[in-house]
Amino acid sequence: MILVLAEAALELMPRELWRHPVVVKDASRRGKEPGRLLLDRARHHRAMAALRASERRGRPDIVHMCVLAFQYSLLNAAGRGSMFVHTLNDVVIRIRPDARPPKNYNNFVGLMEQLLAEGRVPPQGEPLMIAERKGLGDLLKELGGRWVVLHERGRREDPLELGRILADSVVVVGGFPHGDFENKWLLEEAAGVYRIGDRPLDAWQVVARAVAFAEIALGLV
Ligand SMILES: C[S@@+](CC[C@H](N)C(=O)[O-])C[C@H]1O[C@@H](n2cnc3c(N)ncnc32)[C@H](O)[C@@H]1O
Repeated sequence: MILVLAEAALELMPRELWRHPVVVKDASRRGKEPGRLLLDRARHHRAMAALRASERRGRPDIVHMCVLAFQYSLLNAAGRGSMFVHTLNDVVIRIRPDARPPKNYNNFVGLMEQLLAEGRVPPQGEPLMIAERKGLGDLLKELGGRWVVLHERGRREDPLELGRILADSVVVVGGFPHGDFENKWLLEEAAGVYRIGDRPLDAWQVVARAVAFAEIALGLV
Protein backbone atom coordinates (compact mmCIF):
# COMPACT_ATOMS: atom_id res chain seq x y z
CA MET A 1 0.00 0.00 0.00
CA ILE A 2 1.20 3.45 -0.85
CA LEU A 3 -0.68 5.86 1.39
CA VAL A 4 -1.13 9.46 0.29
CA LEU A 5 -2.50 11.72 3.00
CA ALA A 6 -3.85 14.51 0.78
CA GLU A 7 -4.46 18.25 1.32
CA ALA A 8 -3.15 17.81 4.86
CA ALA A 9 -3.58 20.72 7.29
CA LEU A 10 0.18 21.13 7.76
CA GLU A 11 2.07 24.36 7.00
CA LEU A 12 4.53 26.87 8.41
CA MET A 13 3.05 30.07 9.84
CA PRO A 14 1.59 32.10 6.93
CA ARG A 15 3.25 35.50 6.52
CA GLU A 16 0.04 37.45 7.24
CA LEU A 17 0.06 36.10 10.82
CA TRP A 18 3.72 36.75 11.67
CA ARG A 19 2.94 39.97 13.54
CA HIS A 20 -0.17 38.79 15.37
CA PRO A 21 0.40 39.05 19.16
CA VAL A 22 -0.48 35.39 19.74
CA VAL A 23 2.14 34.33 17.20
CA VAL A 24 4.80 36.80 18.38
CA LYS A 25 4.37 35.50 21.94
CA ASP A 26 4.56 31.85 20.90
CA ALA A 27 7.65 32.53 18.75
CA SER A 28 9.44 34.24 21.63
CA ARG A 29 8.46 31.45 24.06
CA ARG A 30 9.89 28.85 21.68
CA GLY A 31 12.90 30.94 20.68
CA LYS A 32 12.05 30.71 16.96
CA GLU A 33 11.20 33.14 14.20
CA PRO A 34 7.42 33.29 13.51
CA GLY A 35 7.95 32.01 9.96
CA ARG A 36 9.59 28.83 11.30
CA LEU A 37 6.66 27.86 13.54
CA LEU A 38 4.09 25.30 12.50
CA LEU A 39 0.56 26.70 12.30
CA ASP A 40 -1.41 24.93 15.03
CA ARG A 41 -5.00 25.73 15.89
CA ALA A 42 -4.46 24.57 19.46
CA ARG A 43 -1.90 27.38 19.91
CA HIS A 44 -2.93 30.00 17.35
CA HIS A 45 -6.70 29.81 17.30
CA ARG A 46 -7.23 33.54 17.93
CA ALA A 47 -4.79 34.50 15.19
CA MET A 48 -6.43 32.20 12.62
CA ALA A 49 -9.87 33.85 12.53
CA ALA A 50 -9.07 36.00 9.46
CA LEU A 51 -7.23 33.29 7.48
CA ARG A 52 -8.68 32.08 4.18
CA ALA A 53 -10.18 28.57 4.52
CA SER A 54 -9.21 28.68 8.17
CA GLU A 55 -11.38 25.67 9.12
CA ARG A 56 -9.19 23.39 6.96
CA ARG A 57 -5.83 24.57 8.33
CA GLY A 58 -3.52 24.28 11.33
CA ARG A 59 -4.03 20.64 12.33
CA PRO A 60 -0.60 18.98 12.45
CA ASP A 61 -2.05 16.57 15.03
CA ILE A 62 -4.01 14.87 12.21
CA VAL A 63 -0.78 14.26 10.30
CA HIS A 64 0.96 13.08 13.46
CA MET A 65 -1.67 10.44 14.25
CA CYS A 66 -1.85 9.19 10.66
CA VAL A 67 1.94 8.96 10.41
CA LEU A 68 2.15 7.00 13.67
CA ALA A 69 -0.66 4.64 12.61
CA PHE A 70 1.12 3.91 9.33
CA GLN A 71 4.83 3.96 10.14
CA TYR A 72 4.58 1.68 13.20
CA SER A 73 2.24 -0.85 11.55
CA LEU A 74 2.84 -4.53 10.82
CA LEU A 75 2.28 -3.60 7.17
CA ASN A 76 5.21 -1.21 7.19
CA ALA A 77 7.38 -3.57 9.24
CA ALA A 78 6.77 -6.24 6.59
CA GLY A 79 8.03 -3.87 3.88
CA ARG A 80 4.58 -3.63 2.28
CA GLY A 81 3.94 0.07 2.77
CA SER A 82 5.16 3.58 2.11
CA MET A 83 3.64 6.93 2.92
CA PHE A 84 3.48 10.43 1.44
CA VAL A 85 1.93 13.55 2.92
CA HIS A 86 0.64 16.13 0.44
CA THR A 87 -0.20 19.45 2.12
CA LEU A 88 -2.87 21.99 1.28
CA ASN A 89 -0.07 24.28 0.01
CA ASP A 90 1.22 21.67 -2.44
CA VAL A 91 4.24 20.44 -0.54
CA VAL A 92 4.87 16.69 -0.72
CA ILE A 93 6.64 14.92 2.11
CA ARG A 94 8.18 11.55 1.32
CA ILE A 95 8.65 9.42 4.43
CA ARG A 96 11.12 6.58 4.25
CA PRO A 97 9.57 3.29 5.42
CA ASP A 98 12.32 2.89 8.03
CA ALA A 99 11.70 6.36 9.52
CA ARG A 100 10.59 6.27 13.16
CA PRO A 101 8.80 9.60 13.67
CA PRO A 102 8.54 11.04 17.21
CA LYS A 103 5.63 9.66 19.23
CA ASN A 104 5.67 12.79 21.38
CA TYR A 105 3.57 15.50 19.70
CA ASN A 106 5.84 18.43 20.61
CA ASN A 107 8.84 16.61 19.22
CA PHE A 108 6.89 15.84 16.03
CA VAL A 109 6.04 19.54 15.65
CA GLY A 110 9.73 20.42 16.00
CA LEU A 111 10.64 17.86 13.34
CA MET A 112 7.99 19.14 10.88
CA GLU A 113 9.18 22.72 11.42
CA GLN A 114 12.71 21.68 10.54
CA LEU A 115 11.53 19.61 7.57
CA LEU A 116 9.37 22.35 6.04
CA ALA A 117 12.05 25.01 6.59
CA GLU A 118 15.06 22.95 5.41
CA GLY A 119 13.45 20.51 2.98
CA ARG A 120 14.87 17.42 4.68
CA VAL A 121 15.48 15.74 8.03
CA PRO A 122 17.94 14.99 9.41
CA PRO A 123 19.92 17.87 7.86
CA GLN A 124 23.02 15.69 7.43
CA GLY A 125 23.38 12.15 6.15
CA GLU A 126 20.74 10.00 4.48
CA PRO A 127 17.37 11.86 4.78
CA LEU A 128 14.49 10.04 6.48
CA MET A 129 11.97 12.59 5.22
CA ILE A 130 12.13 14.95 2.25
CA ALA A 131 9.78 17.86 1.52
CA GLU A 132 9.46 19.32 -1.96
CA ARG A 133 7.03 21.58 -3.78
CA LYS A 134 4.64 19.39 -5.77
CA GLY A 135 0.93 19.23 -6.59
CA LEU A 136 -1.25 16.23 -5.84
CA GLY A 137 -1.76 15.49 -9.55
CA ASP A 138 1.98 15.34 -10.22
CA LEU A 139 2.54 13.09 -7.20
CA LEU A 140 -0.16 10.63 -8.28
CA LYS A 141 1.18 10.64 -11.84
CA GLU A 142 4.66 9.80 -10.50
CA LEU A 143 3.17 6.96 -8.48
CA GLY A 144 1.74 5.38 -11.62
CA GLY A 145 -1.39 7.40 -12.31
CA ARG A 146 -3.79 4.91 -10.69
CA TRP A 147 -5.24 5.44 -7.24
CA VAL A 148 -8.20 4.63 -5.02
CA VAL A 149 -9.81 7.03 -2.55
CA LEU A 150 -11.23 6.30 0.87
CA HIS A 151 -14.22 8.58 1.23
CA GLU A 152 -17.33 8.74 3.40
CA ARG A 153 -19.59 8.59 0.32
CA GLY A 154 -17.71 5.79 -1.44
CA ARG A 155 -18.88 2.23 -2.12
CA ARG A 156 -19.07 -0.08 0.85
CA GLU A 157 -16.94 -3.19 0.29
CA ASP A 158 -16.38 -6.36 2.29
CA PRO A 159 -13.38 -5.60 4.59
CA LEU A 160 -11.29 -8.55 3.39
CA GLU A 161 -11.86 -7.67 -0.27
CA LEU A 162 -11.17 -4.01 0.50
CA GLY A 163 -7.96 -5.08 2.27
CA ARG A 164 -6.86 -6.95 -0.89
CA ILE A 165 -7.54 -3.88 -3.00
CA LEU A 166 -5.79 -1.47 -0.61
CA ALA A 167 -2.73 -3.68 -0.13
CA ASP A 168 -1.84 -3.27 -3.82
CA SER A 169 -2.95 0.31 -4.42
CA VAL A 170 -2.05 3.94 -4.06
CA VAL A 171 -4.60 4.92 -1.40
CA VAL A 172 -5.68 8.53 -0.89
CA VAL A 173 -7.13 9.79 2.42
CA GLY A 174 -7.92 13.42 3.22
CA GLY A 175 -5.64 14.95 5.87
CA PHE A 176 -7.95 17.87 6.74
CA PRO A 177 -10.46 18.24 9.59
CA HIS A 178 -13.62 19.38 7.76
CA GLY A 179 -15.24 19.40 4.34
CA ASP A 180 -14.17 17.64 1.16
CA PHE A 181 -11.20 17.49 -1.23
CA GLU A 182 -10.52 20.74 -3.08
CA ASN A 183 -9.05 18.70 -5.96
CA LYS A 184 -12.43 17.56 -7.32
CA TRP A 185 -10.91 15.40 -10.09
CA LEU A 186 -9.48 13.14 -7.37
CA LEU A 187 -12.78 11.28 -6.90
CA GLU A 188 -13.87 11.48 -10.56
CA GLU A 189 -10.65 9.96 -11.91
CA ALA A 190 -10.07 7.40 -9.14
CA ALA A 191 -9.98 3.69 -9.97
CA GLY A 192 -12.31 3.17 -7.00
CA VAL A 193 -13.87 5.12 -4.13
CA TYR A 194 -14.63 3.13 -0.98
CA ARG A 195 -16.08 3.86 2.39
CA ILE A 196 -15.52 2.23 5.73
CA GLY A 197 -18.67 1.97 7.84
CA ASP A 198 -21.61 4.29 7.42
CA ARG A 199 -20.46 7.54 8.99
CA PRO A 200 -17.64 10.02 8.50
CA LEU A 201 -14.51 9.10 10.42
CA ASP A 202 -11.41 11.01 11.46
CA ALA A 203 -8.51 10.54 9.07
CA TRP A 204 -6.41 8.58 11.57
CA GLN A 205 -9.31 6.16 12.16
CA VAL A 206 -9.51 5.62 8.40
CA VAL A 207 -5.76 5.09 8.08
CA ALA A 208 -5.68 2.66 11.02
CA ARG A 209 -8.52 0.60 9.50
CA ALA A 210 -7.11 0.69 5.97
CA VAL A 211 -3.79 -0.59 7.30
CA ALA A 212 -5.50 -3.28 9.41
CA PHE A 213 -7.65 -4.50 6.49
CA ALA A 214 -4.56 -4.75 4.28
CA GLU A 215 -2.62 -6.56 7.02
CA ILE A 216 -5.42 -9.13 7.32
CA ALA A 217 -5.59 -9.58 3.55
CA LEU A 218 -1.82 -10.12 3.43
CA GLY A 219 -1.89 -12.62 6.29
CA LEU A 220 0.18 -10.41 8.58
CA VAL A 221 -2.30 -10.55 11.48
C1 LIG B 1 -11.98 13.96 8.82
S1 LIG B 1 -12.29 13.40 7.22
C2 LIG B 1 -12.58 14.88 6.33
C3 LIG B 1 -13.72 15.65 6.84
C4 LIG B 1 -15.08 15.04 6.68
N1 LIG B 1 -15.51 15.12 5.27
C5 LIG B 1 -16.04 15.81 7.56
O1 LIG B 1 -16.54 16.86 7.12
O2 LIG B 1 -16.19 15.40 8.72
C6 LIG B 1 -10.75 12.94 6.58
C7 LIG B 1 -10.76 11.94 5.46
O3 LIG B 1 -11.04 10.67 5.93
C8 LIG B 1 -11.64 9.91 4.89
N2 LIG B 1 -12.91 9.38 5.42
C9 LIG B 1 -13.70 9.96 6.35
N3 LIG B 1 -14.72 9.14 6.67
C10 LIG B 1 -14.57 8.03 5.92
C11 LIG B 1 -15.30 6.80 5.81
N4 LIG B 1 -16.40 6.56 6.51
N5 LIG B 1 -14.84 5.86 4.96
C12 LIG B 1 -13.72 6.08 4.23
N6 LIG B 1 -13.00 7.20 4.30
C13 LIG B 1 -13.41 8.17 5.13
C14 LIG B 1 -11.78 10.81 3.70
O4 LIG B 1 -10.65 10.62 2.85
C15 LIG B 1 -11.73 12.17 4.34
O5 LIG B 1 -11.25 13.14 3.46
